[in-house]
Amino acid sequence: MKLYHAPASPFVRKVMVLLHEAGAVDRVTLSPASGSPLDPGTLPVDRNPLGKIPALERPDGPTLYDSRVITRYLDDLLDARLYPAAPHLWDTLTIEATGDGIAEAAVLMRYEAHVRPEATRSPAWIEAQWSKIARSLAALEDRWLSHLAGPLDMGQIAVGCALGYLDFRHADRDWRATHPALAAWHAAFADRPAMRATAPDA
Ligand code: BEZ
Repeated sequence: MKLYHAPASPFVRKVMVLLHEAGAVDRVTLSPASGSPLDPGTLPVDRNPLGKIPALERPDGPTLYDSRVITRYLDDLLDARLYPAAPHLWDTLTIEATGDGIAEAAVLMRYEAHVRPEATRSPAWIEAQWSKIARSLAALEDRWLSHLAGPLDMGQIAVGCALGYLDFRHADRDWRATHPALAAWHAAFADRPAMRATAPDA
């Protein structure tokens, strides 16, 4: 299988962490891809019309895209068991969506500050993205810590990758200062070999 990949992407990282946790990194070859909303660059627009990574070429059907689709596929293929059966599944998917939403808002902040032409940048829009992140961090801190402390699942992996991206691109926001319990969880989670092996890189 071929995975369209960029080492900074928190969404690619989710897929890579799953592969490491499943002991299946050798099942994919990585195809470097880079671009932006203004210039698709080498993003696989012929494979994913949205021009986004990750995208996964697979032997048994069309290319998959959207990290949640790819992780569901690989979980099934590799019997990784990172999605529990219902009813626990609904919590796992909600936490995964929360992690992905944090990552999405954080990537949009990065694009606004570094890709959009300076004259048209909107500080208010950036703060609105950060408000989504702040509310989501509060929800994780207030509601989901016991789940995060439970058996490994894709919800935890998504949150771990999102928090790693905040550290990578938005360290100045110091999310740990107001979320001490989440910070303690992340310190331990980030030490997993799969997380250490996939730390973001420019
Ligand atoms: C980044 O450089 O922050 C980035 C790269 C690819 C996807 C998302 C974010």
